[in-house]
Amino acid sequence: MLAVTDAVIAAQNAVVAAESLGIGSCYIGDIMEQYEEHREILQLPEYVFPSCMLVFGYPTPQQSMRPKPERCRLEDIVQENTYYRRNFKRDEQISTTLSGSICCWREKGIGMK
Ligand SMILES: Cc1cc2nc3c(=O)[nH]c(=O)nc-3n(C[C@H](O)[C@H](O)[C@H](O)COP(=O)(O)O)c2cc1C
Repeated sequence: MLAVTDAVIAAQNAVVAAESLGIGSCYIGDIMEQYEEHREILQLPEYVFPSCMLVFGYPTPQQSMRPKPERCRLEDIVQENTYYRRNFKRDEQISTTLSGSICCWREKGIGMK
């Protein structure tokens, strides 16, 4: 499974290199979600599976100018030394944009006390 990490590291380097040339990119999660189909399309041999897919292209001016979505605060997504449970009382105070994600995590039972 280390190879998966290697592939994603290589992909992220490609993202950064492309960005420096004005080329945008987008990860495609479908590669793992529908991996059986992609294995066939790519004619992968036995025991080989795709772990990462990237598409590249020149962004339209509209895409380049779009406001960046609000990001999670680092303290909400970075764990240091040990895992800690999320504090949903505190999370209630964060913006409505992010509260959608928290509802989603709640539905899936992720991070519940
Ligand atoms: C692992 C991973 C898989 C993703 N899969 C898809 C995908 O299948 N289709 C898609 O349109 N975007 C996909 N994205 C891109 C996200 O939807 C999002 O546009 C991207 O992470 C940039 O985030 P931002 O809009 O907050 O800047 C994926 C991103 C990641 C990190």
